[in-house]
Amino acid sequence: MNLDLARVKQLVKARCGLLFEGNGEANLVQVLAERIRALEIVPAQYFARLHDSGPEFQELVNRLTINETYFFRESEQIRWLVERLVPRLLAARGGLGPVRILSAGCSSGEEPYSLVMALMDRYGESASRLFEFAGGDIDSVALAKARHARYTRFSFRGVPDEVRARYFDQDRWGHVLKAPVRNQVTFHELNLLASSFSPALRDFDVIFFRNVSIYFDAPTRKRVQQNLVSLMKDEGVLMIGAAETLANDLGVLPLVEEDGLFYFVKGKPPVPAVSLSPPPSSGGSVPMAAMSAPANSQPLPPSAPLRADVDTLRQLMRDKYYDQALPLLEAVLAIEPGNVEVLLLKAYVLINRKDFAGAELLVHGVLATHAWSIDALVLLGLAAKWQQQSEAAIRWFKQAAYARPECWPAHYYLADLYRNDGANELARRAYRVVIQLLAGNEPDTGIQYVPLGLPTGEIRFLCEHQLARLPAAKALAGQG
Ligand SMILES: C[S@@+](CC[C@H](N)C(=O)[O-])C[C@H]1O[C@@H](n2cnc3c(N)ncnc32)[C@H](O)[C@@H]1O
Repeated sequence: MNLDLARVKQLVKARCGLLFEGNGEANLVQVLAERIRALEIVPAQYFARLHDSGPEFQELVNRLTINETYFFRESEQIRWLVERLVPRLLAARGGLGPVRILSAGCSSGEEPYSLVMALMDRYGESASRLFEFAGGDIDSVALAKARHARYTRFSFRGVPDEVRARYFDQDRWGHVLKAPVRNQVTFHELNLLASSFSPALRDFDVIFFRNVSIYFDAPTRKRVQQNLVSLMKDEGVLMIGAAETLANDLGVLPLVEEDGLFYFVKGKPPVPAVSLSPPPSSGGSVPMAAMSAPANSQPLPPSAPLRADVDTLRQLMRDKYYDQALPLLEAVLAIEPGNVEVLLLKAYVLINRKDFAGAELLVHGVLATHAWSIDALVLLGLAAKWQQQSEAAIRWFKQAAYARPECWPAHYYLADLYRNDGANELARRAYRVVIQLLAGNEPDTGIQYVPLGLPTGEIRFLCEHQLARLPAAKALAGQG
């Protein structure tokens, strides 16, 4: 193709931040070929067209963005918003004006609508008075879908059927969000790298900016964050996807840790309200139940079909619905007590519930017959790490890395442990191993069952970020 690809990449990055590396570049080339064909021009003419025509730039961007999203994604952050942050904001507001919430990079709307459902579930009809929701995205096609609010089953990964039934009507083409939820969100075209913003996109108390920064390099992430700050009220809160947070700790806003979650604040961290007890609910509590309440999950009877159980389990585990997964795990184990996958998944749930002794018992049982199970070794490493037993954790992760050198999660945890112990040279080496392992095609980690939820793109960013922050290596410092 007689087209200067580097110039196109530069233009797209400068205007909207998107980077194209690895598979991303192959996708860019394919999309460019499609556009050139559709415009019936020769490749050499395309750059000028892209540069000079706003509509063509929009067409291209719409095809290049990655819109992957689903309802109640990273639900622990949504739960924290509903249970912790919002009561404080409402208390601070004292009834003066609504709490304003923005989903920046909202894609087809699942994120802002999830926030509405979670808050409606807690505040009932008052939600429309207490809150204002906006969604913004650079992709005009995704925004049209968001306004349309019709979804297929892929948007409901792990969302229980009763939640869907409560908030959606089904028609021939999919699940249509009911008007009381839909009407609460306004959608706006938004380029996070723009030099000015619509007045409708100002004065937010909370901004959700999740799974967007992973497509940007560090200088772009910093500029975007500065722009987001300009859209926030004083003392506004910025919530970034869990795995991206550290890579966004760029000195723009202070990072706060609370209840194991991280967020950024514009002013001083919000002070907990006197009472955090939940206000009267509208009843039903479906979305919050989807996120947290094991009470709604019925153990399957022992005769339930096993395949379906395990498929459901895998989905629940991937989506981190551990409370819902536990009764199912137990139901499957009642039929098949030696099922290694289910034993390991149960151990992972127990670790997440801080029942380390229970988890270790299960994992040692598995190791007795599968001495080199990478899942088991990594789980024991995690259990030790979360109990602050750094020496034991290092031993288990080293065993996993020894048994499977491509197991980058083991190297990644080792790097973190070394860094916390001040063993900077060892940390540096381990981070480099991870970066190297993730540079090519994703290696087979040997982890068969446990969904650690470590997204490779973000982990590479994190490792690079940590490497850059580690104090410079001293010449001949003989560590390790
Ligand atoms: C993977 S989706 C994330 C959706 C949702 N926030 C979530 O976490 O599920 C990323 C979205 O960011 C949007 N995006 C990328 N660059 C952007 C920019 N410069 N300004 C605004 N939105 C952008 C994309 O169009 C895409 O819809």
